[in-house]
Amino acid sequence: MKLCVAFDMASSTECLELAKKLKGLDIWLKIGLRSYLRDGARLLDELGKIAEFKVFLDLKLYDIPNTMADACEELAKIGVDMINLHASAGSKAMSEVMSRLNALSKRPLVLAVSALTSFEEAEFKALYKQNINEAVLCMSKMAYESGLDGVVCSVYESLVVKNATNSSFITLTPGIRPFNEDKNDQARVADLATAKANKSDFIVIGRPIYRASNPRQVVESILSEL
Ligand code: C5P
Repeated sequence: MKLCVAFDMASSTECLELAKKLKGLDIWLKIGLRSYLRDGARLLDELGKIAEFKVFLDLKLYDIPNTMADACEELAKIGVDMINLHASAGSKAMSEVMSRLNALSKRPLVLAVSALTSFEEAEFKALYKQNINEAVLCMSKMAYESGLDGVVCSVYESLVVKNATNSSFITLTPGIRPFNEDKNDQARVADLATAKANKSDFIVIGRPIYRASNPRQVVESILSEL
């Protein structure tokens, strides 16, 4: 199981400082909407100068098939290691993305976002008329059949997804609160032992790390539990 640290801070300076503090640890960096919209690929270049971090660019794309495939090709050119898109864009969009990316000499891992970990059952059902579990399963099978590498889901769906697809189909699970920290806006949260028991391949942790007074110490404690 790998740890992705979410770099959702308010400035590029804070992101670069955190990267310096975490240099040398066996982690992935997750660059999301806030940081990428503000700093763009320049931030990735700057982070790359600090250390050879693996980078997950978490932009959760959602559009028509051709636009998604064009966008994913552009992201592949940046040279990041993992990207994602919404499974609810549908199997045509996911297949189009994969056929374009598979034609390249090198491509990032591609994950499909299923149900956001901030959804409670009631809010989700009002929108999608389905239980979270059913919907995640349906979206995961679609993503698997479209040739994606895995899904973003909560820890509580991870094992079900693997059983319905393949044990090598990646599950990346945000909403992790390792030491019983505040849930913030997350709903389906879990601790490290539950993530492990459910065979999550990647866990994502943001605020409990970057808001800590000693982020390196928090990451080291997490890594020692993994
Ligand atoms: O601060 P926290 O640990 O809640 O951060 C979780 C990170 O994972 C955020 O960057 C959020 O955008 C991302 N994420 C999520 N749920 C998803 C997909 C991504 O929380 N389904």
